[in-house]
Amino acid sequence: MFPYFQTSAMTTKVAVVTGSNKGIGLAIVRALCKQFEGDVFITSRDLGRGEEAVKILTSEGLKPKLHQLDINDVSSITDAAAFFKDTYGGVDILVNNAGIAFKNADTTPFSIQAEVTLKTNFFATRDMLTHFMPLMKSGGRVVNVSSFVGSRALNGCSKEHQQRFRSEDITEDELVGLMERFVEKTKTDEHKKDGWPDTAYGVSKTGLTTLSMILARRLSKEKPHDNILLNACCPGWVRTDMAGDKAPKSPDEGAVTPVYLALLPPGATEPHGRFVSEKEVQPW
Ligand SMILES: NC(=O)c1ccc[n+]([C@@H]2O[C@H](COP(=O)([O-])OP(=O)(O)OC[C@H]3O[C@@H](n4cnc5c(N)ncnc54)[C@H](OP(=O)(O)O)[C@@H]3O)[C@@H](O)[C@H]2O)c1
Repeated sequence: MFPYFQTSAMTTKVAVVTGSNKGIGLAIVRALCKQFEGDVFITSRDLGRGEEAVKILTSEGLKPKLHQLDINDVSSITDAAAFFKDTYGGVDILVNNAGIAFKNADTTPFSIQAEVTLKTNFFATRDMLTHFMPLMKSGGRVVNVSSFVGSRALNGCSKEHQQRFRSEDITEDELVGLMERFVEKTKTDEHKKDGWPDTAYGVSKTGLTTLSMILARRLSKEKPHDNILLNACCPGWVRTDMAGDKAPKSPDEGAVTPVYLALLPPGATEPHGRFVSEKEVQPW
């Protein structure tokens, strides 16, 4: 009915950052508002917290937009995906930043910590990728905020598990099976005997980094001409509600590597399918 409005929104570029009402996610939105020529969305599972975050950046002279998005709720993911498809014709930058971690002092049984942590950090982030990857525009950039703790957890796995996580032929289904197996084995306290380290957060991020590598290989094979680059990264140890106030980096400093990957210039061919920290590809 209003083709003019539709066309103008469709040609506007758009960046989406999950879990961006605070912490590193909010700092990523702040940096993208300054450096990316397009609309930048704070997404928040709670709209009130999202509105507070919009106020913070607006007071700094920036103009973020806001959309509700709870990555643990598949209907919230599909609603958001439909919104970005209908309004922008897809997505140019997706940063999967939302994540959780139990505090060291938390006495919640390890099996519950494993289930809850993997649900958000691995399975829900995978749901985001399942529904948003088909929306990625040509030249798009996907950044999965993982962690060095995932690399450490990988090294703490049995030789057999390490070999699978590092192999070039691991499939998404096999990875999902391994993540489910870890959660299952924690219920009978058999995870260590089964070759897993004692860290639910670490295993969730081992899974996320491995998933990033699988999806990047799939992109190269199935959409070689789309020039979409997908990477996992570690922001460093950052002062946020998750990591506490003793961490050395500010949230803006933690945003540097994710934003570098989100803004890899047109025509760049790498990094792709890598784990990146301090803007450098790290061994896996
Ligand atoms: N801080 C560090 O030192 C560090 C180091 C390595 C990696 N990381 C990773 O960096 C990312 C950001 O961490 P942070 O330190 O900024 O943590 P944070 O301050 O605790 O922020 C986490 C963000 O994720 C959101 N979130 C959690 N579950 C969600 C869900 N189901 N749907 C949507 N949003 C959800 C939170 O929303 P609510 O406000 O609603 O809870 C919050 O906005 C995480 O993936 C973390 O694992 C952090």
